[in-house]
Amino acid sequence: MINVLFICLGNICRSPMAEAMFRRLLEEEGIQEQFNVDSAGIGNWHVGLPPHEGTRKILDQKNIAYEGMKARQVDKKDWDEFDYIIAMDEQNMHDLEVIRKEVDGVKVAKLMDYVEKANEENVPDPYFTKNFDYTYQLIDRGCRALLAEIKKERGV
Ligand code: 4NP
Repeated sequence: MINVLFICLGNICRSPMAEAMFRRLLEEEGIQEQFNVDSAGIGNWHVGLPPHEGTRKILDQKNIAYEGMKARQVDKKDWDEFDYIIAMDEQNMHDLEVIRKEVDGVKVAKLMDYVEKANEENVPDPYFTKNFDYTYQLIDRGCRALLAEIKKERGV
């Protein structure tokens, strides 16, 4: 099993979008059985809530499922469960350092690091920008590039 955890600040806009979109990619390739995909937030403000209305709206438009998803806060235990911990921005990376454990083989990286010639280093937070479309486009590129890299690394 390959375990992938997406991280953002609130776990209601960007990381649930990435989780749902990454799952969709896996389903399109018929390799979802080999993966465990989840998302979590740095903060605990929205714990237990479904994705933000803007995220739900764009996922609905694209027919991507998000039923049952609920925000949770990242936990030290996540370093024992996940192989890839994928952050949306530099601030997330900094915040993850605080709770990070040194566990061999756990890869912590930003989603945009996987995109060649990315025009953004960070996935902008639509909670503040209100631009869920632009965030969707970046996450789409990021998830495709991330999956390509994981397939190469893991021989999927
Ligand atoms: P996210 O967006 O990190 O993409 O889920 C945010 C959601 C809520 C807050 C910040 C960012 N907030 O401050 O409540």
